[in-house]
Parts: sequence; C-alpha cells; structure tokens
Amino acid sequence: MDKELFYLDRVSFKYQDFQPVFNNLSIIIQKGESVSLLGANGSGKSTLLKILCALVFPSEGIFRAFGQVINEEAMENEAFSKEYHRRLGFIFQNSDVQLFTTRVWDEIAFGPLQLGWEQDRVREMVDDVINLLGIKHLKERSPYRLSGGEKKKVAVASVLVLNPQVLILDEPTSGLDPKTQRWLVDLLLELKRGGRTIVTSTHNLALAHSISERALVLSEQHCLVYDGPASDVLENRDLLMEVNLIDEYCHIHGEGEHIHCYTHE
Ligand SMILES: Nc1ncnc2c1ncn2[C@@H]1O[C@H](COP(=O)(O)OP(=O)(O)OP(=O)(O)O)[C@@H](O)[C@H]1O
Ligand SMILES: [Mg+2]
Repeated sequence: MDKELFYLDRVSFKYQDFQPVFNNLSIIIQKGESVSLLGANGSGKSTLLKILCALVFPSEGIFRAFGQVINEEAMENEAFSKEYHRRLGFIFQNSDVQLFTTRVWDEIAFGPLQLGWEQDRVREMVDDVINLLGIKHLKERSPYRLSGGEKKKVAVASVLVLNPQVLILDEPTSGLDPKTQRWLVDLLLELKRGGRTIVTSTHNLALAHSISERALVLSEQHCLVYDGPASDVLENRDLLMEVNLIDEYCHIHGEGEHIHCYTHE
C-alpha cells in the first residue's frame, strides 16, 4: 500500500501581490503520521495548513495528496473537491469562521446533509458524536453564543461526524483551559490509534510532544528549519530560541523533560 499522503515538492506560495510566504518548500507526510507544525506568529503555519486543505494553491512546485495533483483546476471538479473535503477535516484557528448555523445540532448535521446522507443516518451520527464529545447540553444552543472552548468542541464535532481519514488542526488548544486541553489531547491520541493522520499547528511545545512523533519547524522567514523527531526539537534550546518559540526566560529541565516558560524560584 502506498503510504504517501501529502507530497510538496519545491512549493512556492504568495497571497495575491504580497511578498512570497513560501519558496521551494518540500515536505512529505505519510498516512498515519501525527505531525506538529511549530513556528512563531506569522511563520506560515496556517498558510501551510490551508495549502494541505486545498483552500489556497501553490504558485509554483508540485502538491499531491492521496497520489493526485491538487491544484485549482482539480478542485473545480465538484465531485473531486467534495470527496477531498470529506477525507480531510480542517479545524480552523478561529472557530467563528467555521460555525455558521443557528443551532449546534444543525451545525454538526450540516456536513453529512451536504453529502446527501439519509436523514436517519445523519441523526444517528450527529447524536453519536455529540455523546462522544460530551456536548449534549449544548445541542440546542446557538453556536455564536458559546464560549471559545465550547465553540471549539462544536467545530471538532462538525468535523469528526464525517469521520475523515486526515485531521488538520490549526492551533487547536489556544484559548482552552487545562482540562479541555487534556480532553483534546486524549481525543487526538485516540484518533491517532485508530489510524488517522493528524497534522497540528501549534506554539504549544507540550502539545506537540504529547501527540506527535514528528515535528516540522518554520522559521520567522517561513523556511522549514527542522524536520525530525518531536522529542529532539524540544531539547534543542538554540533552535527554539532562534525561531522565537521560547525566550531567554524559558528553561527546560532535562530530567523528566518539561518546560517552564517563565522564571521561577
Ligand atoms: N490573507 C492574507 N493576505 C496576505 N497576507 C497574509 C494573509 N494571511 C496571512 N498572510 C501573511 O502570511 C504570513 C504567514 O501567515 P500565517 O497566518 O500562515 O502565519 P501563522 O504561522 O499561522 O501565524 P499565527 O501563529 O499568528 O497564527 C504572514 O506574514 C501573514 O502576514
Ligand atoms: Mg495561524
């Protein structure tokens, strides 16, 4: 079986007439991998995830996913584009851009209904995912009136209901309290065990360490400066300082490997 999932070969990308974000970026991600994408603000994490999700397209280079070339032309084919977005779930950095109905239950049912699933099946799948995520108490609420963490859970539910093979998460833990972060980590580990491919962008080094065996690090100049084991990058203080993921107050305790981002006694 071919293990290759995403293949980027010397990809360049820029937003309209702005300065290029990426030049000659090459990355291969295999099926079943859990990869964390690390980098400071503006390093290009969200942009790279948007390329993987075919929301924007490289101006140069080759981008293949599931063995097929992904470009604007391919995505103009409605059946192809629908199938692509069914296989690949994207959890946006900002849940507000993802939620657009007036009731949580409808929000989660929207994707399956769009795909033409039968009403009974939709009802069953939506209720299952609501139970799985423990958000039964939210199902009649308006998504707009939820807290940030509750919105994130609904966004996760609306993606998981389609049971995608690949999950792309943009800063999934930002704004979540420790218990909700733990819940998300456990959920991602469970999905990983179930064979899903997971690509997560984050500043949260502990999250990268918990869920990913591999890390990709983008510099502030949008270059890929590290591609290797997630555990090694956490010990690489010089690299983390250079790419602005830690500052001089941050120190890493070698034994038991944990990071303090502020000074302490
Ligand atoms: N729609 C856009 N139009 C023009 N430039 C953009 C657009 N979106 C992002 N950029 C620029 O592209 C670069 C990469 O931005 P991106 O959002 O990918 O960074 P990021 O690593 O996700 O940052 P953050 O950690 O703040 O979310 C930045 O220089 C940003 O200003
Ligand atoms: Mg971002």
